Amino acid sequence: MASKQMVHMNQGQGERSYARNSGIQNAQQNRMKLLIERAIIDLCSSTLLPDKMVIADLGCSSGPNALALVSVAVEAIHGYCLQFQQPPPELCVFLNDLPDNDFNTVVKSLVTLRRINDPVVLTGVTPGSFYERLFISSSVHLVCSSSSLHWLSKPPEFLTRNQIPAYYIDEHARRENLPMVLEAYAQQFRNDFRHFLELRAKELVPGGQMVVSIIGRHSDGIAPFHIWDILAQVLSLMASEVHFVSFLA
Ligand SMILES: C[S@@+](CC[C@H](N)C(=O)[O-])C[C@H]1O[C@@H](n2cnc3c(N)ncnc32)[C@H](O)[C@@H]1O
Repeated sequence: MASKQMVHMNQGQGERSYARNSGIQNAQQNRMKLLIERAIIDLCSSTLLPDKMVIADLGCSSGPNALALVSVAVEAIHGYCLQFQQPPPELCVFLNDLPDNDFNTVVKSLVTLRRINDPVVLTGVTPGSFYERLFISSSVHLVCSSSSLHWLSKPPEFLTRNQIPAYYIDEHARRENLPMVLEAYAQQFRNDFRHFLELRAKELVPGGQMVVSIIGRHSDGIAPFHIWDILAQVLSLMASEVHFVSFLA
């Protein structure tokens, strides 16, 4: 869940930073490379090649992954223009994440992408939630997002209203409530994703493209014993302690 004020990946470049612990997500980004290149070819060849293009990565985080998708897009545009001897469009690249993201590191790395001519590549950050408007209407040509859209905008209302925890420590209660909890999260995801698509539909230019990846699984089946079960128990205990501490404070 993404609370706009509190949540962010570990900042900086240290041992525990997201920058140094995001190999799995980077592998996911590598799988998106071909899709981004195809999207660029579609954008450049479907109509007259636009003379200005805006590219955005939503949920960029920080570290090398923050630039990975937009760099693929920029390279693909240059490659297309060289191959077909077209003048390259001016490019504007935006990186988005929640306001508490480590934008200091992001901004420093963005400098490597910036070019003042041949071709022009301008850069910027757009702090805010991707469940709100981020760009003016019909202005963005390509939206990318990797491993971010499974972050919900809020806990499922049904669970908070009825004070149902996402994870019962007691195994019997957990098994009994699991289908209801799963459905509540699935419903929240459907609402959030629909809303995300509606917002981006306003911001994309006609014929604009979107390449997103979301981590998921094949079935609803619950494995009887699973490493995630242990992790869930630990997280649940930690969350209840945080709640207790903040209650005492
Ligand atoms: C697992 S990281 C993925 C980062 C990067 N895209 C990658 O593939 O490595 C998920 C990122 O999504 C961001 N995020 C979550 N909810 C968001 C929201 N509503 N709006 C913008 N960013 C969000 C988080 O702050 C986090 O940096």
